[in-house]
Amino acid sequence: KKLEMTLSQLEKGGYPHFMIKEIFEQPKTLADSMRGRVNVDENNITLAGFIDNKEKFLNAKRIIITACGTSWHSALIGKYAIEEFARIPVEVEYSSEFRYRKPVIHEDDIVIAISQSGETADTLAAVELAKSKGAFIFGICNVVGSSIPRNTHSGCYTHAGPEIGVASTKAFTAQVTVLTMLAMMIGKEKGTLSQEDYLKIVYELARIPEKIGVILKQDSTIAEFAKTFTYAQNFIYLGRGYNFPVALEGALKLKEISYIHAEGYPAAEMKHGPIALISQEMPVVVIATSAGMYEKVVSNIQEIKARKGRIISIVTDGDEVVSNLSDHIISIPDTEECLVPLLAAIPLQLLAYHIAVVKGCDVDQPRNLAKSVTVE
Ligand code: G6P
Repeated sequence: KKLEMTLSQLEKGGYPHFMIKEIFEQPKTLADSMRGRVNVDENNITLAGFIDNKEKFLNAKRIIITACGTSWHSALIGKYAIEEFARIPVEVEYSSEFRYRKPVIHEDDIVIAISQSGETADTLAAVELAKSKGAFIFGICNVVGSSIPRNTHSGCYTHAGPEIGVASTKAFTAQVTVLTMLAMMIGKEKGTLSQEDYLKIVYELARIPEKIGVILKQDSTIAEFAKTFTYAQNFIYLGRGYNFPVALEGALKLKEISYIHAEGYPAAEMKHGPIALISQEMPVVVIATSAGMYEKVVSNIQEIKARKGRIISIVTDGDEVVSNLSDHIISIPDTEECLVPLLAAIPLQLLAYHIAVVKGCDVDQPRNLAKSVTVE
């Protein structure tokens, strides 16, 4: 028994839980996802999975991304990046819906399956279906040699290393990194992403691991104010543009591990429903970074303030306007708009973690959830 405890503590590398260890690993895991792919000296990105299938990507009329859970959220961010840089229409599908709803799949479609475990039954079935219709199937998976990569035509591993905590953290940021690199490569080759913008994003991408390191230094501040939110029964998360899927992911993290009901919404949709829920009891987490419709998010925050909601904001370093309106702020370094999710996700992971810990929840193995869902 004693020996077992020591082993498990060893595995956690001195951290109390796998989840917090994995959150803190992200500067390294993202560097690992980029290793051999992002070359700042040569100002270039190389993704073997793209190069081997370049013609397919350049000629694709449509890309369908299929995934579940957190991987589905990274798919949404991938859609924004691929449509912005590569100008290819992208549809994002829940694997469980896609596999049964008789979707239209053409031979010149590319279907991207995203899965941390590579074993999710619904995503595997979606892959089989799309393959039977003649589409080209590309996997973005973390577990090397798992079922999905074995059943796809090509793909790209995320290289985040083993993820033990049931709530996905480092696998999510690695998926977003791979999708961003893929979108940039297609865009550059197609000429839909200018050389100037391409170079700017390559430069900024290479700086993401170091910037995550800076954000992680606010861990104890987040842990401190997390204590004041354990009373909450509900949370709302808001974001726009690239930050909308981050809001969904932040809400999912909180639900999964703290059992507090949370909803993510596009900030501007708030007025079509969720605004009715806002009172002084309701914590609202708003991603209000300077890159990405800042002024519009400010006016959404004013609407929450007027209804006495308790505002927790993720802002860009140096922000004043949102900071003055908020009860708590977490400040993150500036970066390119498409890369903000990689930074904004970090404080939301920490917030969910600390609320769950103060509530005494089993953060690594939340009730009713499994790390890999291999049955329907
Ligand atoms: C389960 C896990 C989630 C994960 C989802 C998809 O629900 O608890 O964390 O996001 O499956 O898993 P995958 O391995 O396909 O990414």
